[in-house]
Amino acid sequence: MSLPSASILGVGSYAPSRVLTNTDLEKMVDTTDEWILSRTGIRERRMAAEGEHTSDLALHAARAALNRAGVTPQELDLILVATCTPDMIFPSAACFLQAKLEAVHAGAVDMNAACCGFLYALSAGSQFVRAGSCKKVLVVGAEKLSTIVDWQDRNTCVLFGDAAGAVVLGAGDNPAEGVRSFFLGADGRHSEILRLPGGGSCHPASAETLEKRMHYLQMSGKEVFKLAVTAMQRAAQKALDQAGMTPADIACVIPHQANMRIVSALGDKLGLPEDKIFVNLDRYGNTSAASIPVALDEAVQMGRVKKGDNILMVAFGGGLTWAGSVITL
Ligand code: UT7
Repeated sequence: MSLPSASILGVGSYAPSRVLTNTDLEKMVDTTDEWILSRTGIRERRMAAEGEHTSDLALHAARAALNRAGVTPQELDLILVATCTPDMIFPSAACFLQAKLEAVHAGAVDMNAACCGFLYALSAGSQFVRAGSCKKVLVVGAEKLSTIVDWQDRNTCVLFGDAAGAVVLGAGDNPAEGVRSFFLGADGRHSEILRLPGGGSCHPASAETLEKRMHYLQMSGKEVFKLAVTAMQRAAQKALDQAGMTPADIACVIPHQANMRIVSALGDKLGLPEDKIFVNLDRYGNTSAASIPVALDEAVQMGRVKKGDNILMVAFGGGLTWAGSVITL
């Protein structure tokens, strides 16, 4: 007897209504719309409201995905939330989400692989479904990065935004649909080029960590950029190989939405035409673990992808981590 497939039953997303444009940022730090647009491709990003936490962003996305899947929260066996900006260090954002959804039969846990979190969580969720230990799994990528961005640091604050995206996975009987492959990688030796050092067990909150602004994200953009393109190319190739596919089989690539120059370089390396690559970073900036599920939802809602299409998703992020996955809708 073959294993069940892990089908994509529904996709949803949510972005807070407040828009922060490049022109707004010009009033906050020494930057210009021209610099941000030409170096990153970002025009604007969304900011969560005061009191709107990561689990609230996740809740909107989860409800949309569950509605489209025709699945009730009570049918869920497991909730995985990919985030590096949970409501608190613990309890997990997944537990807050579980309570808000009243998903009383679901286990709940967060996964942190920074910008790769959603693909790590999707891979894990698909394994629970394929193994038969869960029938319905909710996988969410949700971030409130506005709370960890240093709004005095022009090198980073122009890049990030808040959002959430979600996917409902369920057991199916068609091996040619759902999560077809995944590849997960990491190299912790590069941990220093993208991190948030304060508040963990290394540097618990203190007057010194506050004074040194250690509770904000720190990044060596150029270093990350250099490693990102190669890591993403490798992850994409591995995910394709494991699915037994080539770029020609892919209807749409959904890359982590970090920087338009990284996305274009990846497209060139994979030999994929621009029109096969989905981009929405101009409107959301980099939303870390939320970036891929938000883009996936938009691609589905806009009709850019349809039932039966193969989609290649690929990410890189703090850790460093990288990940690729092929799904068939
Ligand atoms: O999800 C993973 C997260 N990380 C990433 O995706 C980051 C990957 N890296 C990048 O996207 C790019 O490296 C950045 C967009 C962050 C930076 O672009 P860059 O072309 O690598 O610029 P740079 O850091 O080398 O800076 C070039 C210049 C510097 O000035 P000088 O030293 O040449 O005088 C910066 O100080 O641009 C300056 N600069 C800015 N100028 C205006 C840096 N940030 C800004 C800014 N506005 N916001």
